[in-house]
Amino acid sequence: MKKEAMEVLLNRRAIRKFKPDAIPADVLDAVLEAGTFAPTGSGRQSPVILVVQDEEKVNKVKKLNAKVMGTDRDPYYGAPVILLVLATERAVNEEIAILDSASVTVNLLNAAYAMGLGSCWIHRCKEMFAMEEGKQLLKEWGIEENLRGVCSIALGYADCEQPTPIPRKENYIIKV
Ligand SMILES: Cc1cc2nc3c(=O)[nH]c(=O)nc-3n(C[C@H](O)[C@H](O)[C@H](O)COP(=O)(O)O)c2cc1C
Repeated sequence: MKKEAMEVLLNRRAIRKFKPDAIPADVLDAVLEAGTFAPTGSGRQSPVILVVQDEEKVNKVKKLNAKVMGTDRDPYYGAPVILLVLATERAVNEEIAILDSASVTVNLLNAAYAMGLGSCWIHRCKEMFAMEEGKQLLKEWGIEENLRGVCSIALGYADCEQPTPIPRKENYIIKV
């Protein structure tokens, strides 16, 4: 069931335990579409959203991220789907390439919650695809374009209670 916009923005939380259940295609597509409508510099829609849902491919990304992190644990908390937000040459400049990807990522996270899914922003995407192993993976998947890792997302149905947010810091907002 879809949630109201303000409810989504205030209540979306990072989910760190996922059910193995697959995400129905229409639900996933709705989330992805929301990602494509994120604001981007000069409206150039510079990022690419790479959807990884085949179990073997998901495990490869999990292993790669764990390698960067230097652990054996799954950095994606058992999520059945991983979204990779990658920067392309379409961005106005280097800085905007990163900002565009962050913008898309936030839309994806909020849309996921709106569609009843859990999600978590997962770091180390830049390092994953700077590594030869990461570049090789993209080649294996038939992606020849020069893509750089920026953000990644663990996506699936939450296998935990909705976390309670910590209080917002003082002076978060300054009105002048
Ligand atoms: C740039 C960035 C990197 C993050 N990397 C990770 C990560 O690698 N692993 C993780 O569990 N959470 C990661 N998070 C999620 C944050 O820890 C989480 O959003 C934060 O604690 C606030 O919680 P909330 O999203 O529930 O409000 C990341 C968030 C951001 C914005």
